[in-house]
Amino acid sequence: MAKKSVLEFADMKRKGEKVTWITAYDFPTAMLVEQAGIDMILVGDSVGMVVYGYPGTLPVTMDQIMFHTEAVRRGAPNTFVVGDMPFLSYQKSVSDAIENAGRFYKEANVDAVKLEGGKRVAAQVRGIVDSGMVVIGHIGLTPQSSAQLGGFKAQGNTAAAAVALIEDAKAIEGAGASILLVEGVPPETGKAITQALSIPVYGIGAGPYCDGQLLIVSDMLGLFEVFTPKFVKKYATLASVMRQAFEEYAREIREGKFPTEEYCYRMKAGEAEKLTTFIPQD
Ligand code: KIV
Repeated sequence: MAKKSVLEFADMKRKGEKVTWITAYDFPTAMLVEQAGIDMILVGDSVGMVVYGYPGTLPVTMDQIMFHTEAVRRGAPNTFVVGDMPFLSYQKSVSDAIENAGRFYKEANVDAVKLEGGKRVAAQVRGIVDSGMVVIGHIGLTPQSSAQLGGFKAQGNTAAAAVALIEDAKAIEGAGASILLVEGVPPETGKAITQALSIPVYGIGAGPYCDGQLLIVSDMLGLFEVFTPKFVKKYATLASVMRQAFEEYAREIREGKFPTEEYCYRMKAGEAEKLTTFIPQD
């Protein structure tokens, strides 16, 4: 399948066609996602939680996320790849934002960068867009500001809060973002934001009315068991499949059942006999 562009994503919104989006952090997963024909990959700073085991996303650095983004790009050369700007890579200044967004483009050949926040990051969005890059905004439950939100809590669950989110969404659209991601809001709020914007609005835990859906790969595969948000549907149970394989592997080694001949290299013909003349074998 050919890589889609932001113009095609805009067209899909007009036609009412849903966009598919998933996170990935490594080469083999990116290959599988591309083979499955998923439209977009986010190399999310959720890597901090689901790969590095941090309690949140704040410790993730630019260098860390660049390694993962490069690996994903190698695995999915024909998929729209989004680099997620980590905490303090864009908040301090427009110039920082442009510099770090540029790193994603120069070093990992991304198709877009994503950053969190509404009105308060509109200047950064404008700066990156004016430098020729594609920006995806992210509002609602924004993990990088979870301390201000009182934790990883659903947002936009009153009419006033929904209206405030629509204002943030419009500020990000007005600053030149091509797509907006909305996280952790009730379906009514997701719908209102989707209808209020001309650019595509994708959701993660934002109900069915958004123009596309995103899930974190380790959640939807049932691999990450530390906690599971309400909005996650598990399409597989990889954690139990993997645990079972590890247990069987350990048992077979202990019982001398692995490796059997099938998994052993062979000596050249006649060489094993010669070897016994040098070193007595059992
Ligand atoms: O880092 C990430 O995967 C994200 C999602 C939670 C939206 O930003």
